[in-house]
Amino acid sequence: MRVTCSPSASLPRADRLNLGLGLFEEPSGHAQALKAWPGLADAVQRVLRLGDFKGKAKESLVVYPDQGPTRRAVLVGLGKRADFNGFKALQAAATVSRKAKALGLARVAFALPPAAGEDEALMEGLAQGAMLGAYSFDRFKEKPNGGPKVALGHFTVAASRRAGWLDEACRTGRVIGEAVAFVRDLATLPSNFKTPTMIASQTRAMARKAGLSCRILGRAEMARLGMDALLGVARGSAEPPVFVILEHKPRRVRGRGPVVFVGKGVTFDTGGISLKPADNMHHMKDDMQGGAVVLGTLKACAELNLPVHVIGLVPFTENMPGGRAQKPGDIVRAMNGKTIEVLNTDAEGRLILADALAYAERYKPAALVDMATLTGAAGVALGRFAIGAMANDQKLVDRLKEAGETTGERLWQLPLWDEYLELMRGEAADLKNTGGREAGTITAGAFLKEFGKHAPWCHLDIAAGSWGQEDKPWQPKGPTGNGLRLMVQFLRDWK
Ligand code: BES
Ligand code: MN
Ligand code: ZN
Repeated sequence: MRVTCSPSASLPRADRLNLGLGLFEEPSGHAQALKAWPGLADAVQRVLRLGDFKGKAKESLVVYPDQGPTRRAVLVGLGKRADFNGFKALQAAATVSRKAKALGLARVAFALPPAAGEDEALMEGLAQGAMLGAYSFDRFKEKPNGGPKVALGHFTVAASRRAGWLDEACRTGRVIGEAVAFVRDLATLPSNFKTPTMIASQTRAMARKAGLSCRILGRAEMARLGMDALLGVARGSAEPPVFVILEHKPRRVRGRGPVVFVGKGVTFDTGGISLKPADNMHHMKDDMQGGAVVLGTLKACAELNLPVHVIGLVPFTENMPGGRAQKPGDIVRAMNGKTIEVLNTDAEGRLILADALAYAERYKPAALVDMATLTGAAGVALGRFAIGAMANDQKLVDRLKEAGETTGERLWQLPLWDEYLELMRGEAADLKNTGGREAGTITAGAFLKEFGKHAPWCHLDIAAGSWGQEDKPWQPKGPTGNGLRLMVQFLRDWK
């Protein structure tokens, strides 16, 4: 879909036909907001007077003016002026593009009221929202959702004037929106369409197109490097694992580097010999969403040409119970020499991340951030509204927290006191891979800390918010792509 910016005053006729219009709760700005749109005032004032539309956040209503160039106006509530920000702008634009798509419109325009102001964050939010609202996964459907014949092909952001920075903000927002769609597509694909080998070839193609360098290690190289924790997880599957290495190294770099991202790439988690129950097991096709976010972040880095040296590392494997699968009690030696007692084969994420974090050491990272759908316990502790963060460096988490506030992908820090690590000490090996029922998210973090010691490190557990429970205009049911906007914002603020 194309997303462009155009001054309201010179909006093409085709864009005036189907118009989205944001309105705040405060009635004081309504008259001014309607001034730019001839023919709309009567119809809109009517629904406002009747109280059918109040401008509350998440509210929307289609009105049909009987005069003027506009056929349909999608009114979207923006909430209170004082609370408005880039994320609210994103939600509003997504509401409009979702509605336009449902109505089968080929193009739509969206305008904020003058009271909203106009800055980079708002304009990018609108462009991102336009993309996210238009997102759907219909690769396997003959007629997508009963099927409008026309696809939404163009979203115009109406602005006060023409300016280079406005076009730039639209492009940035679109690129980030596309990267979220990339993550959702990968995470939503069923595991038979995304074996580690298939992901490797798709990643090579993506990297070539985006201008990233890409290296992919196979089983033999992993064995040579001593990645036995990763190989132990892969043992139970007929599909060979891969280890993806992406690098974005621009000529002009700001701040220290490199920033190294590590993602969990379990393309299906059955639990292994410690098999999971059948209920909702199909959700485990998204157990590679942390890895997908890392790939998507690198893609966006290259397309936006961010002035930061960034490396993405993702081990991809299935976790299967097979004749050669590792068994509870098995002991493996990770790449950094530490030995691990595998008490539960379903705690596999930390095993593959252990080797990836150890591998990261060779880059001498200025920041090392891993992202993973790691523990069901994260949802128990925080619900699906926060990403669980644990770190060995307060400055690094603070930066990530800030990016979380900006993007609405918020994180909440959990402690990593030594007592938690004590719970992970092995009987027959240095560590064990489970620490019992209490504080499951934190003990997983404490385990990872042993492998990220060489750098300022932060672990993000995205398990809780990675699968959307309800359908929202900016986020469908199923894999959400959460964490991508956070990572990209973190890099844009990097210094
Ligand atoms: N991939 C799961 C975590 C998960 C669960 C993500 C539900 C999203 C939704 C992970 O590999 C896992 O199975 N973790 C176990 C750890 C336990 C065995 C120590 C868990 O959370 O139960
Ligand atoms: Mn598991
Ligand atoms: Zn898992």
